[in-house]
Amino acid sequence: MRIEIADKAGFCFGVKRAINLAETAAEKYGEVFTLGELIHNERAIEELEAKGIHAVETPEEAVGKPLVIRSHGVARAVEETARKCSAEVIDATCPNVLKIHKIAASVPKNGTLIVLGDENHPEVIGIMGHANCKTFAAKNAEQLKAVLEKTAEPVCIVVQTTFDSGEFSEISQKISAEFPRVEIHNTICTATEQRQKSARELSRRAALMIVVGGRSSSNTRKLAEICEKNAKTVFVTSAEEIPPQILKGLQADDIIGITAGASTPAHTIKEVHDKMNEEITKNNNENEEDFASLLEQDQSFNKLYNGKRVKATVVSVSKKEAVVEVGAKQTGYIVREELTNDPTAEVEDIVKPGDVIDAVVIKVDDSVGTAALSKKRVDAQLGLEKLDEIKQANETIEGKVTRVVNGGVIVNYENTNVFIPASHTGVPRGGKLDTLQGKSVKFKIIEVSNDRGGRVVGSIRQATREVREAERAKFWETIEVGQKFEGEVRSIENYGVFVDIGAVDGLVHTADLTWNRVGHPKDIVKVGDKINVIVKSFDLEKKRVSLSAKDPDDNPWTKFIEEYAKDDVIKATIVSITEFGAFAQIIPGVDGLIHISQISTERVQDINTVLKVGDVVDVKIIDIDEEKNRVSLSIRALSESGETASDDE
Ligand code: F3S
Repeated sequence: MRIEIADKAGFCFGVKRAINLAETAAEKYGEVFTLGELIHNERAIEELEAKGIHAVETPEEAVGKPLVIRSHGVARAVEETARKCSAEVIDATCPNVLKIHKIAASVPKNGTLIVLGDENHPEVIGIMGHANCKTFAAKNAEQLKAVLEKTAEPVCIVVQTTFDSGEFSEISQKISAEFPRVEIHNTICTATEQRQKSARELSRRAALMIVVGGRSSSNTRKLAEICEKNAKTVFVTSAEEIPPQILKGLQADDIIGITAGASTPAHTIKEVHDKMNEEITKNNNENEEDFASLLEQDQSFNKLYNGKRVKATVVSVSKKEAVVEVGAKQTGYIVREELTNDPTAEVEDIVKPGDVIDAVVIKVDDSVGTAALSKKRVDAQLGLEKLDEIKQANETIEGKVTRVVNGGVIVNYENTNVFIPASHTGVPRGGKLDTLQGKSVKFKIIEVSNDRGGRVVGSIRQATREVREAERAKFWETIEVGQKFEGEVRSIENYGVFVDIGAVDGLVHTADLTWNRVGHPKDIVKVGDKINVIVKSFDLEKKRVSLSAKDPDDNPWTKFIEEYAKDDVIKATIVSITEFGAFAQIIPGVDGLIHISQISTERVQDINTVLKVGDVVDVKIIDIDEEKNRVSLSIRALSESGETASDDE
């Protein structure tokens, strides 16, 4: 079963506006009074009361207080009294109703105004109270005709904003034909029309309609009347009023429609929707229970009855169903929805002619000689046993996510629905479960229960964790220095970056990111970058691994050793200055130290007075320590010898 909310339902523009005006006034004055209940909804009224918005029947009950005229509007005389009594009158009459007041006021004194609507409705009373002529109310064609027959012209007809538009159109045609000089204004509010249209359209498709709203709300009652013509209709003011067993008699593919009157708050509609969802779940479970007990009954093949389990031979398949032979006088058929829980699977993917399958009878129709069967319900029973075995064996299984539901996803495993709670899907909290829709997932069974017709709960997270743990164990068993990986940068710290190399995350220290000098790791990589790394060292006890992203083939030290030798005179660029000397880059990745004593023939107190970063200087290589990868340079040696570096250095 599926729930659909009418696309136009709940608060209309006029009601929203009235509530906003009243709430603003309540904030300003601390409390405010409304002339009559602001909206026709008992629960919403209680909520307004809590906000300091109270209803009174007459302006005299709120003398000296702020007073709100609700969206229905009031007669001119009432408005005048209100202005005399109240501290401030906040006119929340709906602009659509104000238009009708204007029409009413424009009818000449010798004319007649007829309001098509309920004579006791405050809106109708208010409209009549703006006319300066004779007024009548009529609620149907007969009453209208009766008034017209004894009324002198000119006659003007207006319509209560919530009047049924279909009924009005019929009345209007009849009256125009019989009384051509009568002026008829269609003053039905489009919000009402839209709600009625959308409720009518939905109720034609639905098997059950829930109409939500206040019992005294005429527009809600009208919605219920419209729905009743097309579907079983239940009128409720809140979710608590939804009767038990409301789904009794409904079929699996039936639509449950929800519509709501113009004064129904959105949260009330949501509560009704949630409650119906619960009812559907409960109903599904009860059905499964019924079938579970029926399955255990008579195994005789001669006579078919609901719940009988049979062997069925597939005779033919079509897009919608499989026709089966069950050894009885009826022709058996299994519709696609009863073959599988997977809404994406085709009939021909599930069975083919000649297959012998287990099925259960769900409906026998002797008038046409057919028997509807279900394969998936038998599968569900068998599936429960199998899934329990899988759980005991702690096996990981695979299935397809067929639906995203409240609080998780449903995975189909060999025709049994397995519920995976959101916290077990592996989707981070707040993430979108829809991303799993249609995907094949590996999971563990964590609960199998026969309660309520069978309930199976699974966990993708547990399966993923197990795979990850196995990978980790294997990683630590086989790790070696020099092993190469392609990894993904997970996070960047001041001292280096953590790289995911599959089973674990390893640390690449800043100095091991590149052969060149690095300011901050973020100058070299960003999170999500794929980089090649090799294992530099590891600690099996602490489960730590140090990685290096330096490619040994690009080792600048190798190049340096090949191309340079002790006593070479070269050009080098000062890259940093310390207290004890200056570092000069010989080639990218190889810096040499010019010790303070090697800068000049004279004593240098402060290196910064002699050298600065960026200076290109002639230096002599005075020592190379191949073991420690260190180079010592000297400027002083050149001063003493008078040598200079050639320009090609
Ligand atoms: Fe106004 Fe129409 Fe609502 S008349 S109060 S917008 S139903």
